Amino acid sequence: MDAITALDDCENSALQAFQQASSVSELESVRVQFLGKKNGQLHALQSLLGQADPQERPALGKRFNEVKQRVSAAWDARRVELELPQQKQDSVDVTIPGTPLPLGRCHPLTQTIQEFKDLMGRFGFTVVDGPEIEDEHHNFAALNIPPHHPACDPLDNFYLATAQASSGARLLRSQTSTVQIRVMEHTSDPVRIVSVGRVYRPDTIDATHSCMFHQMEGLMVGPDVSMGQLKSTLRMFAEAYLGREVQVRFRPSFFPFTEPSAEVDMLWGQDWLEIGGAGMVDPNVLTAVGFDPEQFTGFAFGLGVERFCMRRHEITDIRRFYENDVRFLRQF
Ligand code: FA5
Repeated sequence: MDAITALDDCENSALQAFQQASSVSELESVRVQFLGKKNGQLHALQSLLGQADPQERPALGKRFNEVKQRVSAAWDARRVELELPQQKQDSVDVTIPGTPLPLGRCHPLTQTIQEFKDLMGRFGFTVVDGPEIEDEHHNFAALNIPPHHPACDPLDNFYLATAQASSGARLLRSQTSTVQIRVMEHTSDPVRIVSVGRVYRPDTIDATHSCMFHQMEGLMVGPDVSMGQLKSTLRMFAEAYLGREVQVRFRPSFFPFTEPSAEVDMLWGQDWLEIGGAGMVDPNVLTAVGFDPEQFTGFAFGLGVERFCMRRHEITDIRRFYENDVRFLRQF
């Protein structure tokens, strides 16, 4: 094989081997094979040049330089190619402009519920949960509401069609007072809890009524719990949430599970808005869950969460909360 052919072969093999190298380290061994100073193929060919006919030497030297240059350039280009992806992974271009994503936010009622829990927590009340699907015992009987009472009327409640005869009728709870019973039947110690959640009633929907809404139930049971403590707790809560200027009044009322009972209103402009029911836990209720009414007394209340939130933000229609209109929701 003459020297020119050997140089051509060397160039072709080198370019092909560089392309086939799939990593920087593989490329390095190919480089040593062709461009290595000691045993590289080009180095070996260079020593052949010295033995060539003096007349052919200039042409051979020119071709040798061309081959060496092309092989070196091909190695360099392949090295850059192989190093590039690694560089891309490792570096973050902080000059690229960011893409702003609109942040989501909590629904105003979720915000209100969280604030209610925080406030009552600071008053020393523990937050508990209760089921939304209830049995008649917890929704009515244990709350001193007998079966013939109008509150149990199917037209005033959402009974589940699938209720099985063996386990009794079930319904979507119509009040969070169910949680009072669930807590007291599991303890004989003093109680101080709140529970916030959804309740369901087939009420006619208007500006202050929805058929699904939220209540916060409060219950405090102990040796000396009084109506005075109930009133001051509710006043303190209303002032903490709405500000000191809020006016709250208590009207005598009736609930089968409290005696005495009161309805709680707050002033909004010129009008009084009903915000909850409250009272001293009826001795019958205490007895049925194992508390001795001679030793324990208790107060309970159930507040409408939507109405507090409406008053705080001057929302005049409860239906706004449930329309999912982002123009409304973005304001909170
Ligand atoms: C009760 O639900 C009693 N469980 C409250 C209670 C608890 C009394 C503990 C005594 C002891 P009432 O039905 O009044 O009470 O409802 C309480 C509050 O829920 C109302 O004052 C009102 O703020 C709110 N509320 C009642 N119905 C609706 C409705 N359809 N839509 C929105 N809020 C309502």
